[in-house]
Amino acid sequence: MDLRIATDAEDLSQRAAGLFRHVVERALAGGERAAVALSGGSTPRRLYAMLGEEPWRGRIDWPRLHIFVVDERFVPPDHPESNRRMIRETLLAASPLPDANFHPIPYTPDGPEAAAERYAEDLRAFFGPGLPHFDLILLGMGADGHTASLFPGTDAADVRDRLAIPSVNSSTGAQRVTITLPVINAAQRAAFLVTGPDKAEALRRVFVERDPALPATRVGLASGELTWLVDQAAAALLRR
Ligand code: 6PG
Repeated sequence: MDLRIATDAEDLSQRAAGLFRHVVERALAGGERAAVALSGGSTPRRLYAMLGEEPWRGRIDWPRLHIFVVDERFVPPDHPESNRRMIRETLLAASPLPDANFHPIPYTPDGPEAAAERYAEDLRAFFGPGLPHFDLILLGMGADGHTASLFPGTDAADVRDRLAIPSVNSSTGAQRVTITLPVINAAQRAAFLVTGPDKAEALRRVFVERDPALPATRVGLASGELTWLVDQAAAALLRR
C-alpha cells in the first residue's frame, strides 16, 4: 500500500496534481486517450482548480483526456450539492478540457435507478463491454469510512453485477448514484485524497484494523496501484 503523508491540504493538492499529470501522461504514451474518474466533496476542489493553472495546465494533453464522475448526489446539475457543478466550477472553468470530454452522471426526473442505468450505458459506450478500466480514479473518504457513494450499513459495496447503481447516504438518507466497487477495483491506478482530523479515526480503522465494515477498506485494485495521499492531521492515528 502506497501511503504518502502531506503536510497539509495545499501540499496534498500539489502532490495529487503531480500524480494526476504523471498518470495521464503515461496513459497517453500508451494509448489514444486517457480516462479519469473524479470524486466530489470538498477535499479535491483545490486540486481541480490547480490542474487548470500552470505548471499543470500546460503539461496535460486536454483534448485526449476524458473526465468521468465517480458518484453524484441525486440533484439537478445546477444544485449547490451537485458534484457535476463542483467539477464544472473548478476543473472545467480553469482548463481547456473540451465539453465533449466531460461525462457527468446524468440527472433524470425518472429517478436514481434510471440515472444509474444511463450512466452505465455511457460507460459501456466509452469503454466497450465488460468492466471499464479507468487510467485513474480519484477517491475521497468520509468520516464514516464511505468512499464514492458506497456507504457503510448498506449493501452498495456488495454489488458485483452492475457498473453504476443508485445508493443512499446512510447518515442522511440522501439519494445518490455511484460507480460500483468492481469498477473502482478494475482501475489501472487509484488514489485516495484524505485531509483533516475528522478522518483520522476512519483512517485508523481502514489502515490498522482493515475493518471490512468500512467501504474504503474494500478498495483494493485487482492489478492496479492504489495510493493513499493523506495529510498529517488525517494520519494522526497511524503509527509510523
Ligand atoms: C461525495 C464524494 C464522497 C467524498 C467523501 C469525502 O459525493 O461527497 O464523492 O465520496 O469523496 O464524502 O468528502 P470530503 O472531501 O468533502 O470530505
